[in-house]
Amino acid sequence: MTELVKRNHWVIRLTHWVNVVAIVIMAGSGMRIFNAHPAFARPGESFSLNPWEGHAIPAWLTFGGWLGGARHWHFAAMWLLVANGFVYLAFLFLHGEWRDVVPRTGDARDAIEMIKFYLFVRKNHPVGGKHNALQKMAYFAMPLLGIVIVLSGLAIWKPITFGFMTAMFVNYKWARFVHFAGMVLLLALALVHVFMVFAVDPYSLRSIVTGWYNRERSPEARNARPFYHLLGPSVPAAPDTEGPPS
Ligand code: HEM
Ligand code: HEM
Repeated sequence: MTELVKRNHWVIRLTHWVNVVAIVIMAGSGMRIFNAHPAFARPGESFSLNPWEGHAIPAWLTFGGWLGGARHWHFAAMWLLVANGFVYLAFLFLHGEWRDVVPRTGDARDAIEMIKFYLFVRKNHPVGGKHNALQKMAYFAMPLLGIVIVLSGLAIWKPITFGFMTAMFVNYKWARFVHFAGMVLLLALALVHVFMVFAVDPYSLRSIVTGWYNRERSPEARNARPFYHLLGPSVPAAPDTEGPPS
């Protein structure tokens, strides 16, 4: 008997996918803008934090035609990203679901238990809430990075009007760098996220599309480490006797 439960509200599902579209457009067009001058140092300045100063990003990763076209895409998708982000965060707040993503005391310990489990040091999957401690940290970091990217974006979009914001990031050059580095970190987290979805809990794909989730296939129920679902019959979880429960 399958035990289907409603896992993701339609607002979460809709904002998740709108967000993916917006970020793909923002990152692709942003990197094309970057390629128009692929260095953070301006004439007469130096910049040591980018080992690839002067090297453009491969064109196939970028998007938006010429510089002007990419800027049009960037500033159009910006509204989509920000409006969608507001709806997602407001929903989390009003619906109480922020508890699923905001780390609490004890999550650092639980994250270590998760890592021990993946490294075969611990036998049983720690029991958590909707998301395990590692997921929670990633899902919490993503909107935070988003906020840093939006603020630094405003700082380089209107450096006169929002001069105080540009100053918040030291100056224009540093605001540009923070904007860029924020994107790199966000994309890295998103790649790990997508990898882990397919490797550990591919059954959750259904829940982010239709909302429904089969609890019997949760990583806890299958005692699943990456790619366990490809190995055939799942390893039944033994009663959790190791370590503090999470
Ligand atoms: C409210 C949100 C955002 C605003 C206001 C914004 C604004 C800007 C501005 C003004 C520029 C420079 C354009 C130019 O000089 O012609 C820029 C560049 C860029 N943006 Fe954004 N952006 C936002 C969100 C994002 C997001 C979400 C990403 C990626 C995830 C991103 C990635 C980039 C990249 C890679 C560049 C090129 C960096 C450079 O060469 O300076 N931006 N953005
Ligand atoms: C820019 C890219 C992405 C970002 C920033 C992102 C972010 C997130 C966040 C924050 C959540 C948690 C939502 C919540 O519980 O409130 C989530 C859930 C999820 N994401 Fe993504 N995501 C991205 C791309 C993708 C892609 C491309 C896929 C699949 C191909 C995917 C699959 C999922 C699934 C299956 C869940 C639900 C997990 C569950 O219910 O336990 N995500 N994502």
